[in-house]
Amino acid sequence: MKLTDLRGKTALVTGASSGIGELLAMRLAAGGARLALTARRRDRLEQIANRIRAGGGEALVLPCDVGDREQVFEAARSAEQQLGGVDILVNNAGYGHHRTFLEWDVGDIENMMRINYLGTVYWTKALLPGMVERRRGWVVFVASVAGRIAVPDESAYAASKFAMVGLAESLSLEVEDHGIHVLTVCPGAIRTEFFDEEALQRMPRTSKRMMVEPDGLVDAIMDALRKGKHELTYPRAIASGYVVRALAPSIMRSSVRRTTRRP
Ligand SMILES: NC(=O)c1ccc[n+]([C@@H]2O[C@H](COP(=O)([O-])OP(=O)(O)OC[C@H]3O[C@@H](n4cnc5c(N)ncnc54)[C@H](OP(=O)(O)O)[C@@H]3O)[C@@H](O)[C@H]2O)c1
Repeated sequence: MKLTDLRGKTALVTGASSGIGELLAMRLAAGGARLALTARRRDRLEQIANRIRAGGGEALVLPCDVGDREQVFEAARSAEQQLGGVDILVNNAGYGHHRTFLEWDVGDIENMMRINYLGTVYWTKALLPGMVERRRGWVVFVASVAGRIAVPDESAYAASKFAMVGLAESLSLEVEDHGIHVLTVCPGAIRTEFFDEEALQRMPRTSKRMMVEPDGLVDAIMDALRKGKHELTYPRAIASGYVVRALAPSIMRSSVRRTTRRP
């Protein structure tokens, strides 16, 4: 279903306090949608909401931890009551680390699955029934290229994003006839706070060279929603890797090994 006009629509963006979520929230508001912003850092959300309001838009701030089911359900109820239903849900909150599986603390592996995958489950469970009832909705999953092609140093992160992609693909087919559109977004390396100093130090040179600004990704997401696409990989050229991986896995494996050597 094409999202051609944001006026009169309501949207909730998770992970709206920085990076991709912040830009996406600003763009949805600029198009005329009424927004609910969520993440843990209330001060950052308030600043972004104030910028939206200064531009003539409407924005609610609903701080919560996506890994806490009760907090998510409460924030979702509040968003539905105050906005009169949520038409667009952007599941974007998440974090990553770069380390080998042997180095990775098991507690953080559990936490990453809770935040990146279960957080998405909680928000979708909370808001999808309302969309189905109104027979209108869009659910965007900001997954990752790591949810399609796994590389070294990302095992726990890739697992959480593969889970997210699987959920989105299945759900997309289930809810289409209820008037709900699902878009799965797989970004490559995007310059945001996601990459701290440690991650940049560990990042292979090839990946560093391929890093792009978030504005282009947000343009591409808005365009994909307008056109009613179900999948977006950005930068788009990366998607050719999915074909190589499916048809010639050994070539893909050699290429990944070559390009992910540490600097
Ligand atoms: N940057 C990339 O290269 C890249 C590539 C592929 C996919 N992605 C995905 O894109 C999404 C956004 O990342 P970004 O690049 O924009 O990074 P970012 O600037 O670090 O944003 C991450 C957002 O997630 C929120 N968040 C993290 N943990 C949370 C929690 N427990 N509860 C609620 N909110 C939480 C953060 O807010 P608070 O800290 O305020 O809670 C923040 O708003 C992530 O899912 C990431 O995996 C990023």
